[in-house]
Amino acid sequence: MRTQVGIVGAGPAGLVLAHLLARAGIDSVVLENRSRGYIEQRVRAGVLEQTTVDLLRENGLAQRLDREGMVHHGLELRFAGRGHRIPLSELTGGRAITVYGQQEVVKDLVRARLEAGGEILFEVDDVTLHDLDSERPAIRFRHGGGDHELRCDVVAGCDGFHGVSRPSIPAGVLTAYEREYPFAWLGILAEAPPSSEELIYCSSERGFALHSMRSPKVTRLYLQVDPAEDLANWPDERIWEELRARFATDDGWTLADGPLLEKGITPLRSFVVEPMQYGRLYLAGDAAHIVPATGAKGLNLAVADVRILAEALEAWYRTGRTDLLDGYSAACLRRVWRVQQFSWWMTSMLHLFDDQGAFDRRLQLSQLAYVCSSKAAATSLAENYVGLPYV
Ligand code: FAD
Ligand code: DHB
Repeated sequence: MRTQVGIVGAGPAGLVLAHLLARAGIDSVVLENRSRGYIEQRVRAGVLEQTTVDLLRENGLAQRLDREGMVHHGLELRFAGRGHRIPLSELTGGRAITVYGQQEVVKDLVRARLEAGGEILFEVDDVTLHDLDSERPAIRFRHGGGDHELRCDVVAGCDGFHGVSRPSIPAGVLTAYEREYPFAWLGILAEAPPSSEELIYCSSERGFALHSMRSPKVTRLYLQVDPAEDLANWPDERIWEELRARFATDDGWTLADGPLLEKGITPLRSFVVEPMQYGRLYLAGDAAHIVPATGAKGLNLAVADVRILAEALEAWYRTGRTDLLDGYSAACLRRVWRVQQFSWWMTSMLHLFDDQGAFDRRLQLSQLAYVCSSKAAATSLAENYVGLPYV
């Protein structure tokens, strides 16, 4: 088998890349180790930045997103028993976020790619990368009971944090920068109407909680928990009680509940490797970096990477120029570190830390009050949250 760009992983990074390349007339094959059904049901992120929505729209991939996505012009920060609205659009010249589940984005991208005759192989096994430092790298894998080799010009490692691409780079090439947080998020999807029109990021004395949604009938909620927490300790009623306690306000706000459709625990971590490239292998998305979910940036950052990669590959195929490909890692890392800082800042401001004393808690509350009362501070949060057009 032969293609121009071999893409490992059919997450947002790999699928968007396949679309951008096809628009530029560049062939690709996407190799995914899970089934189509699995990746289309996997519940993950839900907030799309303005830039992400614009890119999907420009590429004809936003018809359902435009119909079903929920456009939000503000969010709420809740602390000390009160909510405060941050008017995102007012502070950013009309930019907004759209709430639309990651698995819906994945469904739309897979369908559009297959309808256009694009090649996505699901349920491939034993993917290994070869000859990355040559001009003809190869991807070997098992599929449909047989062994295959895909020869390509370039490999795009879009296979997430636990994929094979990053570990295929020889020792000593990459430097990893990492921070683990002493908490995780317990996330639920519930068949209950959202209790607020906008997202609520809540810093309570019992820990962080987040109110989000997927539709007028489905709420997505998160609780800060211990990273070693066992889901078995969280029967549904305990989750609802804890959510009610954390979101409680002085004026008696109520949280609608309903049957749980999904629940899971996700650790929070910050991780970056530099550079995001080795020979003819380019890493994109979670394969190269992870952000704590508080900034709602993981998916958006994955899309930002592959936009840069697609432009660099298009320039290379069209004219032979290599400067954009050579600068891929540096161009991505500017945004990666901006987003890391923002996600770390949101996380630090809103969560309770184990070793935190009364002094540190008062600093957090002062920071929150400042963000909610100063236009300059609120604008800084807003422009990062909706996504900076340039970094
Ligand atoms: P992924 O979406 O991880 O896609 C990688 C793909 O590669 C997957 O389909 C995987 O099956 C495939 N793959 C892996 N290994 C191989 C292999 N060896 N061979 C072939 N294919 C392979 N972000 C937020 O902003 N908010 C959230 O609430 C949030 N929740 C999350 C919950 C979980 C459990 C996880 C894991 C992530 C969450 N994120 C969240 C982060 C966000 O979902 C990711 O940043 C985003 O999915 C990154 O896209 P990606 O395409 O780089 O990687
Ligand atoms: C959602 C996830 C996030 O990480 C976040 O910051 C906001 C919303 C969500 O799943 O809806």
